[in-house]
Amino acid sequence: MTENDFLIQKNDDLASQKWPWWPLLPLYPYGRKRTIFSELISNEIWSFEQLQGLYYVAVPVRLTVVKVNGGLMLVNPLPPTNELIGKINLLEKKYGPVLTIVLPTASGLEHKISFPALSRCFPKADLWLCPGQWSFPLNIPSELVGIPKRRTKTLFDDGFPHEETCNWFSLGPVDIGLGRFQEVSCFHKPSKSLLVTDALISINPEPPLLFDLDPTPLLFHSRERGDQPLVDSPEARQKGWLRLVLFASFLRPEKLSIPPLSKILNYAFKPGLRDFRSHFGLFPFSWEKGWEDSAKELIGKRQPNIQIAPVVERLVFPRAKDAYIKWLDQIKDLNGIRWLIPAHYKAPIPFNTRQIKLLSSRIESQPWVKGQGNWRFLDSLDQSLLKRRIVPVNPLDPFKD
Ligand SMILES: [Fe+2]
Repeated sequence: MTENDFLIQKNDDLASQKWPWWPLLPLYPYGRKRTIFSELISNEIWSFEQLQGLYYVAVPVRLTVVKVNGGLMLVNPLPPTNELIGKINLLEKKYGPVLTIVLPTASGLEHKISFPALSRCFPKADLWLCPGQWSFPLNIPSELVGIPKRRTKTLFDDGFPHEETCNWFSLGPVDIGLGRFQEVSCFHKPSKSLLVTDALISINPEPPLLFDLDPTPLLFHSRERGDQPLVDSPEARQKGWLRLVLFASFLRPEKLSIPPLSKILNYAFKPGLRDFRSHFGLFPFSWEKGWEDSAKELIGKRQPNIQIAPVVERLVFPRAKDAYIKWLDQIKDLNGIRWLIPAHYKAPIPFNTRQIKLLSSRIESQPWVKGQGNWRFLDSLDQSLLKRRIVPVNPLDPFKD
């Protein structure tokens, strides 16, 4: 067996997938993190993906490994299971040691939570953080959550890692009340790839390969009622995926309603479904006609949309469009940009200056703050946060450096 065969081999060994720190952020799949590996750009960039989600609304989260001079850089941490570390160790044998670990976001909890544990697996690596780190409900200093101060630096304040290979750009900061939204994107010059965290996504039209390891979340959401069993088929997986991305994008999409409690309980606890996997038959969702079109519009009909994730667009940037445009202006001048590699969903995505300009002009020409259809729930959430003064009316002023 060659090294590459081992890297792409499917593994379902529980012991190597254990994540004991899951109670810190109790998201599905809790104490067991299956990882899928792929090479994104030959001999330059690799992807590790795990699932994270709530009530089976689980989307892939990516750690990206980048070839730099003398070794490797890890961007956006993931829970370091033995499976994940074993595969990174194989890349180290071929391409050199992990020199650097970067947490390029100030706000993305799903990316931050495993940073201390991952940094302990590579005790010689330099650690780089996006400025303005914060935690909720308590704003705990970085060293107290286990980030070693001695080898930790802050992007911009202390410079940048691997400048011979990478250019770095900030999106934000934007004040979101409890803390700041900011992420730092990395342009990897040898591969002409732009690595982003949550700034842009392109949703896979079909379920990502990661679900081959465990399709339960897709099968759960493919049903109409809680008394229906979880039956695996390509159709059920596809249906579940389309519903799942609507949930993840809009939290409460237009075509979804919540049935009365009596109806939910009526279909719950049926024989064969009295287990945790089926959530005991509790299925508090009812999908209305037209949901499928809604999902296809979100993903993109002729080709997958490259877009700002709706939650980010409507809850982070509603009053900070200029900050987003400023970031697009910076990346549109990148020399020969070819690929976009986000920390969620599809990667790599073909991406060039023309597409960035189109995105920019689309944002400039269309209403930015949306409130109709699928956007209604996010709009009401934003309005309510604004009314309670949890989010500021002018989100840019407090962070003028
Ligand atoms: Fe994220």
